[in-house]
Amino acid sequence: EKGGWSSFMRKEVSEQPDAVANTIRGRITDGVVAIPELEGFGDDALRDIRRITVVACGTAAYAGMVAKYAIEQWARIPVEVELSHEFRYRDPVIDEHTLVVSISQSGETMDTLMAVKYAREQGARAISVCNTQGATIPRESDAVVYTHAGPEVAVASTKAFVAQITALYLFGLHLARVRGTLSDARLAEQVEELQAVPEKIGTVLEQADRVGELAHWMSDTRSVLFLGRHVGYPIALEGALKLKELAYIHAEGFAAGELKHGPIALIEPGQPVFVVVPSPRHSANLHPKVVSNIQEIRARGARVIAIAEAGDAAVLPFADEVIRIPLAAPLFEPLLAVVPLQIFAMELSQAKGLDVDQPRNLAKSVTVE
Ligand code: F6R
Repeated sequence: EKGGWSSFMRKEVSEQPDAVANTIRGRITDGVVAIPELEGFGDDALRDIRRITVVACGTAAYAGMVAKYAIEQWARIPVEVELSHEFRYRDPVIDEHTLVVSISQSGETMDTLMAVKYAREQGARAISVCNTQGATIPRESDAVVYTHAGPEVAVASTKAFVAQITALYLFGLHLARVRGTLSDARLAEQVEELQAVPEKIGTVLEQADRVGELAHWMSDTRSVLFLGRHVGYPIALEGALKLKELAYIHAEGFAAGELKHGPIALIEPGQPVFVVVPSPRHSANLHPKVVSNIQEIRARGARVIAIAEAGDAAVLPFADEVIRIPLAAPLFEPLLAVVPLQIFAMELSQAKGLDVDQPRNLAKSVTVE
């Protein structure tokens, strides 16, 4: 089943261009996003939404965090992202104008299932983003937008993550069209960006060997930090989660802006820090802020591995290593920047002789609360 690959994870990481392309298929016609599965839900219902609450766990919750930036920007609806197990038990404010969007690869995660059931009992409508046909969470929802990543066997989620972001972005663009919050020209730009993602992920995958070498040099490392900002922040969290679960190394992700509010105290000579650098073209001008974060941690001896856009020369004087991602509009960078972090965790796990497909203490789907 591994078809010549040394692990399912390696196979699934390499399948990410297809996971994105297959999730897009059938949902963009003549440059216009229309998700057929949402027809039954109805455009009036989509116009009626005042608030979106995303419920998910682990990697799926990070996909939700990425999508929050896009959906708020495109569709101008407030989006909150909640861990399913926290949402359910804190008397959340939900009503019939709340749309609950659950994200689950397996569609069987008990925490998320309970959150969806609870929200619907309170009158909310529920859409499920799921990778498994006919699973329980989609059956308990009003509509389902399937990700078409194909079966994910490795315990660590990789191709499902990029497919989740893709499905949520399609949903955000669908909403923006129905609600009239983006001009046709802006919608068309986003569609083009999305359609270019599979090939760009392919370009990132070509650097796998370099990332692998980096992981092998670092196989004695006891702690790794990850920094990101804006959509790079959930990617930092995801990079840290992958490293914890696959290589059993202490890892933490931070919002780069939070550094001076505490985490910078952790920086000591030799501390490896991955930094997801926003594009210099980012409209909020976050690039110089993150470059100055890099300078601050470098001055304290951190070993900086920057994930930066091709041609971004500002990081060169301060980073020990630079991993390049192709140019993309800022909201689409997470789909590229996550790939080297997945590969890093996978290679470090293998360098330590661990079972990358079956990390200790973990199950592929968590069907108990
Ligand atoms: C991380 C990972 C988990 C899952 C989480 C949710 O690599 O696999 O964090 O993302 O358990 O699982 P699903 O998406 O099946 O609900």
